[in-house]
Amino acid sequence: MSGVLHIWVVEDEAPMRRLLTATVEREGWRATGVASGDDAAARLDTGEVCDLCLLDLHLPGALDGLGLLPRLQRRGIPVVVITGYASIDSAVVAMRAGAADYLAKPVEPEEVVVRVRRALSHHRLAEENRRLHRALDERLRFERLIGESPAMVALRRRLERLLDVETTCLITGETGTGKELVARTLHFAGGRARAPFLPLDCGVYTEELLADALFGHLPGAFTGAAGARAGLFEEAGEGTVFLDEVQNLTPAMQARFLRLLEERTVRRIGGGPEVAVRARIVAATNEDLRAAVDAGCFRADLYYRLNVVTIDLPPLRTRREDILPLARHFLAAHAQRLDRPPLALTPEVVRRLEAYDWPGNVRELANLLERATILGDVDEVAAGLEEAGAAPPTTAAAAEPLLPLAELERRAITVALARCNGNKQEAARLLGIDPTTLRRKVRRYGKGR
Ligand SMILES: Nc1ncnc2c1ncn2[C@@H]1O[C@H](COP(=O)(O)OP(=O)(O)OP(=O)(O)O)[C@@H](O)[C@H]1O
Ligand SMILES: [Mg+2]
Repeated sequence: MSGVLHIWVVEDEAPMRRLLTATVEREGWRATGVASGDDAAARLDTGEVCDLCLLDLHLPGALDGLGLLPRLQRRGIPVVVITGYASIDSAVVAMRAGAADYLAKPVEPEEVVVRVRRALSHHRLAEENRRLHRALDERLRFERLIGESPAMVALRRRLERLLDVETTCLITGETGTGKELVARTLHFAGGRARAPFLPLDCGVYTEELLADALFGHLPGAFTGAAGARAGLFEEAGEGTVFLDEVQNLTPAMQARFLRLLEERTVRRIGGGPEVAVRARIVAATNEDLRAAVDAGCFRADLYYRLNVVTIDLPPLRTRREDILPLARHFLAAHAQRLDRPPLALTPEVVRRLEAYDWPGNVRELANLLERATILGDVDEVAAGLEEAGAAPPTTAAAAEPLLPLAELERRAITVALARCNGNKQEAARLLGIDPTTLRRKVRRYGKGR
């Protein structure tokens, strides 16, 4: 908005129109009196605009105030409605239709000025807000999903198509391949971005706590349930519920979850009404869910419900051309976050990065580069790789197949965890290490957060 504010006074009664234009002009603003809705519409059609419109609802001609209102809104013009004393109902209708405020006749000039100022400042704030949201949307749009390998290009294309559809999605892939990032992208780049994205790791709660988190409860539903609480499915509204490590759902929870997906309703623990579930549900797993179904650990019907659309994230070692762009991305990001100068990669380090198998995938790469950035030494990258068990480059050419120790360890841990249904205490016993060590190793390979 530049210069003097310009206000239209759309009012058919001449004395009232004069009073309002005089009031507006006394404030140092510019006023244009318009005697009918048709005249106002004609002005809009020729491209005339104003900063705010004072609009009488009762106007002669084809177009009354309520008819004109949407046209003004389409031009982004805030409207303060003026209504006869006896027709306050129509003011309510106008407010619902998007008017900024209303004034009932007879109007007090001071009141007019107060309302106009308020409507204008609200309008500016709303505009600013919209502008910021748009800028944010633009930035979030896939910018963070790095990678130009054919697999990543195909993935981005697939995501584009899935953005605004309702379907439940299942995201699969090894640990650290970007499943959560993809789930966030689906949410924040799509039409649900203004509603919440609510992630929940199905592997870290007891069945009771998980049920409570997902479904919520009524007061007194169980010991300790003091107040009522909405569950994630309710709280998400039109947003997204992201169920991570979904393979960890117990049979009882699988049954409840299946019912929810089928009926699209949720009922809190302790009863109460059925509430419609409007959120999109996105699930992720780093295990082979199909195999879990075959092994009888996961319900086939639930698997098919979740699996309407599958997004499979390939391991980093199958798309080595993404390693360098990812490394550059993380070096820049870590440097910025830690307020350090960005490390420069040497050809030797690049060669090693590209040769390594990355059992912890993108997360392992990100962590390694973070450590090197903190230590301010690019040689830490090579040191870190060696420590992780990568074969030193001199023996890399040897034909002998060799699994890096880290990979052996990772496989042993995966098997042990699978055998114990994710119970780390049990798995640690099987592996002959203590649970703290196991937890550290799991974190190191990128499962923890
Ligand atoms: N293509 C990518 N571009 C940029 N960053 C990525 C990409 N893929 C993964 N990342 C980053 O790598 C890290 C691990 O990704 P994420 O947490 O999404 O993995 P995950 O598949 O959910 O792993 P887990 O199974 O262990 O939970 C995150 O910091 C994420 O932002
Ligand atoms: Mg994850």
